[in-house]
Amino acid sequence: ADPALAERIAAAKAALGSRVFVLGHHYQRDDVIAFADVTGDSFKLAQQAAARPEAEFIVFCGVHFMAESADILTGDHQRVILPDMAAGCSMADMATWEQVEDAWDVLADAGVADRTIPVSYMNSSAAIKAFTGRHGGTICTSSNAHVALTWAFEQGEKVLFLPDQHLGRNTAVRHLGMSLEDCVVYDPHKPNGGLTERQLQDAKMILWRGHCSVHGRFTEQNVHDVRERIPGVNVLVHPECRHEVVSAADHVGSTEHIIRTLEAAPAGSAWAIGTELNLVQRLAKQHPDKQVVFLDKTVCYCSTMNRIDMPHLAWALESLVEGQVRNVITVDAETARYAKIALDQMLALPG
Ligand code: 13P
Ligand code: SF4
Repeated sequence: ADPALAERIAAAKAALGSRVFVLGHHYQRDDVIAFADVTGDSFKLAQQAAARPEAEFIVFCGVHFMAESADILTGDHQRVILPDMAAGCSMADMATWEQVEDAWDVLADAGVADRTIPVSYMNSSAAIKAFTGRHGGTICTSSNAHVALTWAFEQGEKVLFLPDQHLGRNTAVRHLGMSLEDCVVYDPHKPNGGLTERQLQDAKMILWRGHCSVHGRFTEQNVHDVRERIPGVNVLVHPECRHEVVSAADHVGSTEHIIRTLEAAPAGSAWAIGTELNLVQRLAKQHPDKQVVFLDKTVCYCSTMNRIDMPHLAWALESLVEGQVRNVITVDAETARYAKIALDQMLALPG
């Protein structure tokens, strides 16, 4: 960490006092997360977004869809700031509103739309969240996907799961007892999603063809290799990993779950972790009494999470001190209204 920048960030935060609230996702760099008032996984950050109504500014150290959700969940008097506007998410970009509307038409033509509940991962645009709210669905995160799916199957017969096929498949198979055959993949780049009417009628889970560019790179071979290299190692992965990886692992969970699991682990135990590298490196530093290794050394950081760095954070905060509000994330009122219905549905799911 650059000490001069650290001093500038601390000074700007102190000058703003309770006017600013800084949220930080667990995948952020160490030198950025150090300035977060609250850190968390996507669910905790969504819950916390509205926790400080007195704060005029919410500086979101995370990615675009998280800042959009914070804007939807907070009052009109609060403004959400993303220190670098280029901090997007490649997975969220894999489902556009137009593509999802088209998919809904395909489901309607197959006669299944009225029996289908959309469940959208938090990692999606506000427009997709609004689509979800309009059609009676819910948002989910990696920590509550099983509760969200259970709820959805009480409302309808099928689920359209957007946009992460892996989280959808892993949750359906591991928690709802479905088989892989119950799931089909809708490819937005193919006519009718590449599916026949029969497939749409038979499927319980219609999974969008989206994935995380970081977690999608871990392989089953990585799991076998690390077990050979470190006998007795515990393999702990995020549910955005492919199904084979999750099936070969010992433990699966959200970033918050990964952190709690490491905290509860006995000294001397060994852990191979399949999630974003900033978090794995931090866990290795925080647990010197345990062996903590990255599941695959060739997988790199999430490049968009890493865009939020000290210079961007210093610039965003110092601008506020100077009275200039930069990089505000605003969701239009109509989109926000429906997206909030789907987000509120998630927040109302049983804990
Ligand atoms: P969680 O922190 O909810 O596990 O989300 C992981 C993620 O990929 C966020 O982009
Ligand atoms: Fe998106 Fe994956 Fe990065 Fe999370 S880790 S922000 S899902 S690309």
